[in-house]
Amino acid sequence: MKKIVVTREVFTETIDFLKSHFDVASNQEDRLFRRNELLSLISGAEGIQTGSGDQVNDEFLDAAPQVKIVANTAVGYNNIDVDACSRRGVIVTNTPGVLDECVADYAMGLMIAACRRIGEGERFLRSGQWKAVYFKQMLGVDIHGGTLGLVGFGRIGQAIARRANGFGMRVIYHARSRVSEDVEQNLNATYVDKSHLLQESDVVLLILPYSKDTHHFIGARELRQMKPRSVLVNIARGGIVDDNALIMALRDRVIFAAGLDVYEGEPALNPEFLELENVVLSPHIGSASEPTRRAMAMTAAKNLVAVLAHGQAPLNWVNPR
Ligand code: GLV
Repeated sequence: MKKIVVTREVFTETIDFLKSHFDVASNQEDRLFRRNELLSLISGAEGIQTGSGDQVNDEFLDAAPQVKIVANTAVGYNNIDVDACSRRGVIVTNTPGVLDECVADYAMGLMIAACRRIGEGERFLRSGQWKAVYFKQMLGVDIHGGTLGLVGFGRIGQAIARRANGFGMRVIYHARSRVSEDVEQNLNATYVDKSHLLQESDVVLLILPYSKDTHHFIGARELRQMKPRSVLVNIARGGIVDDNALIMALRDRVIFAAGLDVYEGEPALNPEFLELENVVLSPHIGSASEPTRRAMAMTAAKNLVAVLAHGQAPLNWVNPR
């Protein structure tokens, strides 16, 4: 039987499904392996189901010379050196589609939390500081009637736009490529260039892939282009925002607030974020609902089965030949 490795804990049904086809080494205890432990675990594997924290690079691929497919349990795959995989003929897959609505829900939550100071309010209450009702307490930024600027307008961006319509927001977007007029009309969304988006938006929401081209897409210069009462939300990837520049902008009130689910160098994050009241911080949980995480794990497993058990093309091929 072919050997498969699942590097992080997933749901039992996924392991059972894989076991019906393969010899499975899985990390159901969810140990945080040291790199050399992980590299020795994947030795001899023909398929590896990775998590977004696994760095798949030449060193990783050298440790698993028989590997034919790396199935990432995430839609983003910036943890994978796709060129290195392609050079060796290793198939890379991801999990698009199954998490769109879940992440879009979360984006709305983070946006509202940052605009309406929900985290700050909870900290205030829990620390026993709420002694009276003040009329001008915790004044936030309105969602309804505001302009939402989406950077990235793929499936998740469009799912957010649909929700924003329901909240009475005007939607503008910037992306590598413009969507069809039909889609724009259906979603009431207008394509604009980057500076226009930064200058017009009350909320700038990032939902674009990370790559060297999008590294520090938002830095000090971009933050200065935003309105003083605007809010930045990043549910995409750390590194798209220059975190040091953002910390300074939040401290100096260059913008009103931020909502972040991702960070440069996560799970470590710049501790200065913790000192700021005007930022809502969450630990990369945008797709973390139980049904969605079940669907993501099964999608990755189905890619392994298609390629290694049935000799078929994978369902979600990132680097087709
Ligand atoms: C989560 O961040 C994903 O890329 O699926």
